[in-house]
Amino acid sequence: MTKILMVCLGNICRSPLAEGILNSITDYTIKVDSAGTSAYHLGEHPDLRSIAIAKENNIDISKQRSRQFVIDDFDKFDIIYAMDKSNYNNLVLLSRNSIDKQKIKLILNEVYSNQNKDVPDPYYGGQDGFKEVFNMLLDSCIIIKKNILDER
Ligand code: 4NP
Repeated sequence: MTKILMVCLGNICRSPLAEGILNSITDYTIKVDSAGTSAYHLGEHPDLRSIAIAKENNIDISKQRSRQFVIDDFDKFDIIYAMDKSNYNNLVLLSRNSIDKQKIKLILNEVYSNQNKDVPDPYYGGQDGFKEVFNMLLDSCIIIKKNILDER
C-alpha cells in the first residue's frame, strides 16, 4: 500500500481535485487523502467549482471534507505533494527531521522535473482556472501512478 497526501492552502480547491483524480485512476493499493496547511475552511466540502469540474470528468469529490495538515501525517503518508511553493515551504517548516522533509514534493515537478512550478490558486478566479488546474493535476497524477507502479 502506497499512501499519498495532497496538500494545498484551504483543502477546498486544488488538493481535493488531486485526491479525486489520483483515486479515480488507481486501485485500493494506493491510498490517497488531502489536507490544507490552513484551517480556513475546516469541515467544509470542496469549492463548488472544483466539484463541478470533477463531475464533468465523472469524478465525485462532493463527499470530501476539508481538514488541516497535522504532524502525524508525516508518519501516516509515504509522499506528501504540495500544490505550490508556499505550501511546500510551510510543510518543510513543520517537518521534524530529514525523513519527514524527504517526503515533501512539489506535485508539478512530476511533470516538469526540477522546475518548481506552482499549481495556481484558482480560488479568486473563474471556472476556467479550475479547468486549467484539473488538467495540470491529471497530467501529474498519471505520472505519479506510473512512478509508483514502476517502483513496485
Ligand atoms: P486551495 O484554494 O488552497 O486550493 O483550497 C484556496 C481556498 C481558500 C483560500 C485560498 C486558497 N482562502 O484564502 O480562503
